[in-house]
Amino acid sequence: MNKFLFVTDLDNTFVGNDEALTELQQTLSEHRQKYGTKIVYATGRSRVLYQELQIEKNLIEPDALVVSVGTEIYFDESDTPDFTWSERLADGWNRDLVLSETAKYPELVPQPDSEQRPFKISFFLKEESAHKILPLLDTKLSKCGLNIKLIYSSGVDLDIVPRHSDKGQAMQFLRQKWGIAAEETVVCGDSGNDIALFAVGNERGILVGNARPELLQWHNENPADYRYLAQSFCAGGILEGLKHFGFI
Ligand code: GLC
Ligand code: MG
Repeated sequence: MNKFLFVTDLDNTFVGNDEALTELQQTLSEHRQKYGTKIVYATGRSRVLYQELQIEKNLIEPDALVVSVGTEIYFDESDTPDFTWSERLADGWNRDLVLSETAKYPELVPQPDSEQRPFKISFFLKEESAHKILPLLDTKLSKCGLNIKLIYSSGVDLDIVPRHSDKGQAMQFLRQKWGIAAEETVVCGDSGNDIALFAVGNERGILVGNARPELLQWHNENPADYRYLAQSFCAGGILEGLKHFGFI
């Protein structure tokens, strides 16, 4: 067995199947101890909401924590996000301008304050309105000179973030920092904000059995033999995928 870089989404991917989670956490902890495997959580949650989940589900400490859809990276117990990463995101980002433009769309309902971050503005947007609003909004914000990206997940969450920021780019930043090859990296996810994790390159990918339609559609349109669609749900699907690729 060799060390690898394990990057996983949390809600409905790592978390959501308690029994399998216990087994997966045990396996990963042992692997980290024996071989130096690195564990990274990449979530849409803010750090505050992550900490709630960590306590609730007794999650093992990650080697790095990517929160707010890739816009903040934390190492160890540090209370401040990695500066090298944050610095990269400022170019072409203007929070106030995004807020004044988005205020023109009544369909966009702001998410709680905890989820509004320096490099992330988030709304709830109903699926039936999304098809119409998203292209309009994208064009409008680009015309304003903003270098942003819209990420729509689970038929309800809309995140607006700097174009150079998503879970995939944050994963690549860590992979390069630690000098781990794409073939020794595995990413796991279930919904729209995880597409970026799978789209970076030829990292091994595990789509859990409960993956959302938006991720499945992307997967079907971009088939690749280094991506595995599991049968089992959440942590069960991850265990299945890790065995499929021979990581465990
Ligand atoms: C998490 C975050 C939310 C975000 C969603 C999708 O639920 O709390 O702000 O919109 O993930 O990325
Ligand atoms: Mg998820």
